[in-house]
Amino acid sequence: MSDLQQPVFLEVLAGPPAQFATSTPTPPIAFDGPQRYSDELTSRLAAEAADIIGRYPQSRSALLPLLHLVQSVDGYITRAGVTFCAEQLGLTAAQVASVATFYSMYRREPTGEYLIGVCTNTLCAVLGGDEILASLTEHLGVEPGGTTADGRITVEHVECNAACDFAPVVMVNWEFYDNQTPTSATELAEDLRAGIAPPPSRGSTTLCSFRQTARLLAGLPPATSSDDGSAPA
Ligand code: FES
Repeated sequence: MSDLQQPVFLEVLAGPPAQFATSTPTPPIAFDGPQRYSDELTSRLAAEAADIIGRYPQSRSALLPLLHLVQSVDGYITRAGVTFCAEQLGLTAAQVASVATFYSMYRREPTGEYLIGVCTNTLCAVLGGDEILASLTEHLGVEPGGTTADGRITVEHVECNAACDFAPVVMVNWEFYDNQTPTSATELAEDLRAGIAPPPSRGSTTLCSFRQTARLLAGLPPATSSDDGSAPA
């Protein structure tokens, strides 16, 4: 047998196992806040949840509006909110958490009365979105994602607001404010801090607080007894 006819063996798995990483590992996602709502609050929310759940052929389909409902209570998704949704829908907390962490409209930190989202995606960036974000955060003294000390404003760095034809666009509680500049965005924030809510550029004629908006997104009427979206307990 010539050398060319000798069998050849390759030691494919020799050495330490190969490791592949596409990104830096991140710590596990956690929710904070109390584990459960009070009995009184649970009772009120359960009645509203039943109304929402009844609109769907399968109860689990109501998870997205229920997450908005609990976000209207806390201003973000807390452990109590996750527990409540899981119990109302017969889901595990992990199933609820997996949805709550997938969609960026569900927040995991306390949110100001007004959530200002500044787009710096392609068209907004070309037309000044980065300058708007920089001037707004500097003026308010917060980093992107941060909330002012008075609890009025949270600034969020967002991807495309799907309103590129009106770039640069800023959203407040998901209402559009078109064709912004660093100056106009700062004035908008100052108005909001002063208790003035300028009407959005289009769509709704009024601007609700973050918690009120969450109630509307849950498909419920605005709360009547407070301006924070929490109906009376
Ligand atoms: S790039 Fe800003 S809204 Fe689309």
